Amino acid sequence: MFGRIDHIGVAVEDLDASIALYAKGYEMELVHRETVEAQGVEAALLDVGDGHVELLAPLGPDTAVGKFLARSGPGLHHVAYAVDDIDAELPRLVAAGIELIDAEPRVGIRASRIAFLHPRSTGGVLTEIVEPAKGH
Ligand code: CO
Repeated sequence: MFGRIDHIGVAVEDLDASIALYAKGYEMELVHRETVEAQGVEAALLDVGDGHVELLAPLGPDTAVGKFLARSGPGLHHVAYAVDDIDAELPRLVAAGIELIDAEPRVGIRASRIAFLHPRSTGGVLTEIVEPAKGH
């Protein structure tokens, strides 16, 4: 069962300029910044209420976010729902007929465990399931 919306992911070309918009313009607190090699991104996390905005700048044009930017330009990239136990949730989603991009959880920002669901089985919405690290 999904607990809450953990974050929305936004693809950006210029991470510093985007952080300025969200931190100064929207007055969200920048709480984390990290290069996640496994995802091919430099990411910034900002708090909004109990949720977050995840800004994603690609490490190169051949990364998933780099290809997204080339195809669609900057903008909304994915929605992430928090779960308590991703190892239990993924087989349940498969049994419900949902197609996984990641058959196994991988490491996301701030030591979370994540998996993406394929948009062709989610009505066109790139969807991430995230089990946040303890304390987050
Ligand atoms: Co995300």
